[in-house]
This record gives sequence, C-alpha cells and structure tokens, in this order.
Amino acid sequence: MFPGPLPTNGFLAAALGLLLTHMSCSSLAVQDIPPIAAYFGTKTRYEEVNPHLLRDALSVRPSVLKPPSAERCSPVHLTAVIRHGSRYPTVKNIRRIQKLSELVRKEASRGSERWLQDVQTQWETWYTEDMDGQLVAKGREDLRQLARRLAVLFPSLLSEENLRRGRISFLSSSKHRCVSSVEAFQEGLRQHWDAHDVEYSHGVDDQLMRFFEHCRGYVEGVEKNRTALLEVEKFKHGEEMEGVRRRMAERLGLPHHRLTPDLVEAAFFLCSYELSIKSLHSPWCFLFDESDAKVLEYKSDLKQYWKRSHGHVISSLSSCPLFHHVFRTLDKAGRPRRLVTSQETPASILVGHAETLLPLLSLLGFYKDQTPPTASNYHSQHGRSFRTSQIVPYAANLLFVLYDCQRGPRLQLLINESPVRFPGLELEDAPLYRDVRATFRHLLDGCDFHSECEGRTGGRGPNTEL
Ligand SMILES: *[C@@H]1O[C@H](CO)[C@@H](O)[C@H](O)[C@H]1NC(C)=O
Repeated sequence: MFPGPLPTNGFLAAALGLLLTHMSCSSLAVQDIPPIAAYFGTKTRYEEVNPHLLRDALSVRPSVLKPPSAERCSPVHLTAVIRHGSRYPTVKNIRRIQKLSELVRKEASRGSERWLQDVQTQWETWYTEDMDGQLVAKGREDLRQLARRLAVLFPSLLSEENLRRGRISFLSSSKHRCVSSVEAFQEGLRQHWDAHDVEYSHGVDDQLMRFFEHCRGYVEGVEKNRTALLEVEKFKHGEEMEGVRRRMAERLGLPHHRLTPDLVEAAFFLCSYELSIKSLHSPWCFLFDESDAKVLEYKSDLKQYWKRSHGHVISSLSSCPLFHHVFRTLDKAGRPRRLVTSQETPASILVGHAETLLPLLSLLGFYKDQTPPTASNYHSQHGRSFRTSQIVPYAANLLFVLYDCQRGPRLQLLINESPVRFPGLELEDAPLYRDVRATFRHLLDGCDFHSECEGRTGGRGPNTEL
C-alpha cells in the first residue's frame, strides 16, 4: 500500500511534540520568574542584572575588559568592593511577614483564584527570628560563582600561586553575612584552582566597611534625623502608594484600612525572598503587577537616595576612609615594577553592604541625575539612572582594574561586571591612572574623615551644591 501521509504527520507531530515539550521545559526556568523580579531594589537577585547567568552561572565575557588594544596592557591589580550575597530577612521584616500572613489567612475573603488559595491554605511562614539577616545557601553560591568568574577574567591576579602564597588580601565587615560571603568567595577560588588545602583567612575592618556607623556627622545628620527621610515618608502615604495598597486590598478582598503601607511592602519583600532564597515564584507575587512594582521600587530608591547617596553630602563623605584605602592600594600597585616590594598585593577583596557601595559610588559621582527623586515627581523619574535594583542587587560589585600599559598605568571600573566610565572622564573606558587621580584630586587631597565626620554637625543639609 501506498503509505498515506498520516504516519509521517504522526511522526512529525510526535517529534514536534517532543520538541515543544523540550522547549517549554527549558524556557520554564525563564518563565517562572515573577515579572516583577527586576524591581526589588536592594533585594534584587544578581541574575536580574545579568540574566545571561541564568543560562550559565560561570559564563564570562572577556570583552568587558577594555584597555586600549594598541597599548599592550596587562592587568596588575584588582580591588573588588563586593556586597554580601542573598540573605534571610532581618527580624523587623520577619515580624511583618508573620503579621501579613496571619491577616491574610484570617481576614481575606476566600479566594476563587489559585494563587489566593495557595496563599491562604498552602503557604506557611517558615521564617524564624534567628535567621536575622544571615547569608543563605544561594548567597554563598552567589559569591562562589562570582569568585570563579573573576578568576577566569583575571587569571594572573587571582592565580593559584597568589592564592597559595596568601598575596590576595581579604577584608570583611564584621556582620555574619559578610564574613560568610568572604569565606564563600575564597571557597570559589579554591574550587577554581582545585586548591582545597589552602587555608581561609580574612581580616575584619568595620572602620572601612561600615564607615557609616562611625561617622558622627552622618549618624546625627541623617540616621537619627527625623526629617532627613521626609520624601520617603511623604511618598509612603502619597497617591501612588495608596493606589498600590488599594489594588492589593481588592485582590485580597480585605478592608482597605487593614493593610498598612508596611504590610504592602512586606508582601512585596516576601515575593522577593521566596525568589532569592528558594528560587520560587511565590503566590504572593500575584498581588502586584509591574506598575505596582515600579512604585514600590521607587519607594526603596527614594530611601537609598536620601539615606545613602546624593540626598545628603555627608552620606557620600562618610565613605572617605574606603575611598582613600582603595586609592592608596592602587597607588602602591601602580608603582614601577622594580620598586615593588614583597608586600605587593595583586588583588584586594573587600566585602561589605549595599550601604558600603552606594556612598562610595556617590562620592565618585555616579548616578547623579539632574533632578533629585522626590515624593512628588515619580512620573518624571522613569528614566532615572539611580535604580538600586540595577546598582546594588545581592553580590553587587565594583571592580577597580589597574593595567600596566605603554603610556603608564590605566584604570578601569566595572560595576556588576559591566564596564562604566568615570564621571568627568567619559571619553575612555580605561583612562590613564594619572588622569583619574587628577579628576578626583579634590577628594585625594581632602575627604578627611575626621573633619567631615567629627566637624560641625547639623550644618550639612540637602545636597544642593556638590
Ligand atoms: C536633618 O535633615 C534636614 C533635611 O535634609 C536638614 O535640613 C537638617 O539640617 C538636618 N538636621 C540635622 C540636625 O542635621
């Protein structure tokens, strides 16, 4: 018999079916990320900033290193300022999460939608107060993988020999999550070089990594100043946040007044924690659409802007000790080879917080938009550069790469493994180090922690002149 078209079609259909199954499986991982995941501010995963890592967490793009090709440059030093990896919520947020879940279980209307049923009957609080901000397994993985990528990117600096000889310096903030992170980073290097016998070692330095606590002018002028975050308070009770709250109450069938802005935020954070800790698309995420998430992201950005960034000059100035530490290290590393002593440090790994990175970036002049974000200009801020989701996700990092080049040392900065240009030196990816020094001359000659932080307090109001 003449074979009809059916078997062929059947075969094709089966093959196509297989293919489709395969495709939907492999894209499932991608689809299963909540559409609001890129708006979690400082609670954003590093993968949302570098989505190619979702496909291959160890993939490295050597093209991000951009010294001028004509000058035959080689990297001679790396200073990395790194934020700790994914962590548990702190006690304050764990309590809010508990309150929220109780409220929803007891008072929300029985949902017909699947996610609402899940939230009410399936989901149980598994967060306990002793978790308080500690690094989670995923956070350790964040730092291990970052270390392995950097070892591929800078094989001569993060080399096996440098690791074995203890030439790489490791400094951390005293907080548990940072100490765990600096250990995980070393674990990554040991894995990369298959050097499991190398001892762990790190120093703890809070003057350097938690400078904000030690700067009296900052503590009194911003941290304890009830009016310093006025814009955040206004926005919290403003019309955009009210809209998010109303929509969330409607989705839950809750009386509007039962939801406070703090509980709205707790639900948003809960979605972020379930994703960053367990890689789960939590049913809580369905409480928000993308425009709600943008409003909540803006609220976090406002807080960081007025607390840790350009909002108050003293916030950036409090990072002067770290600024000087980085440039002293670079100065030493950039000296002509023959003068270099045995104390040479090919790499310096500094692990701290979002609160460590943001002031330093602000001091260097990054992410300073023409118009400051306020409670009343949300709608004109869509194009702002100050987006903490992009700048300080978990495991965020600033990489200062010093090259030895024919015309002298050059410096390149990468933020979260992407090249950026120094404000004021936008013509080159890796300008001459002496030009960088000239650009930051005012800080190199000043930026004195003692006079900035211990001097007159209360006089430094909102940043209008710098
Ligand atoms: C508190 O912050 C406000 C607003 O930024 C500022 O005007 C004021 O000077 C600050 N007060 C103190 C004591 O620093």
